[in-house]
Amino acid sequence: MKIGICSDHAGFEYKTRLIAWLEECGHEVVNFGTDSTDSMDYPDVAHPLATAVAKGDVDGGIAMCGTGNGMALCLNKHIGVRAGLAWSEEIGALLKQHNNANVLVMPARFIPFEEVLKITRTWLETPFEGGRHQRRVAKIEQF
Ligand code: RB5
Repeated sequence: MKIGICSDHAGFEYKTRLIAWLEECGHEVVNFGTDSTDSMDYPDVAHPLATAVAKGDVDGGIAMCGTGNGMALCLNKHIGVRAGLAWSEEIGALLKQHNNANVLVMPARFIPFEEVLKITRTWLETPFEGGRHQRRVAKIEQF
């Protein structure tokens, strides 16, 4: 898969390690920043990632900040982006099975890196269930 990824300063270390792991797994990674632990504003990287996901320039995205909430709030402003926060493998699986989330968001300050890897693997490998969930996902943008 071609995966877009971003973080703020709080998620920078995990992002760096996750990029290496994703590339080892054979994925192509597009890094939207940030590029250091210097304090920065998460919208500055979340919006470019969301644009790439919405346009289909990447197959999916991963975003991390301290809580994950800032990233999710920005990403979900974009039509076509379904970003969800996951802090366990089970939630990562359900995020794909039920919500067909095309961006996985994780709270870097609240989970160990080993959990980030497990959640990412699960989210990548789990298929969308469709059926009644397809109807619900379609309704997300009907307002
Ligand atoms: C940065 O201190 C922190 O606010 C940010 O990483 C994130 O948690 C915001 O939602």
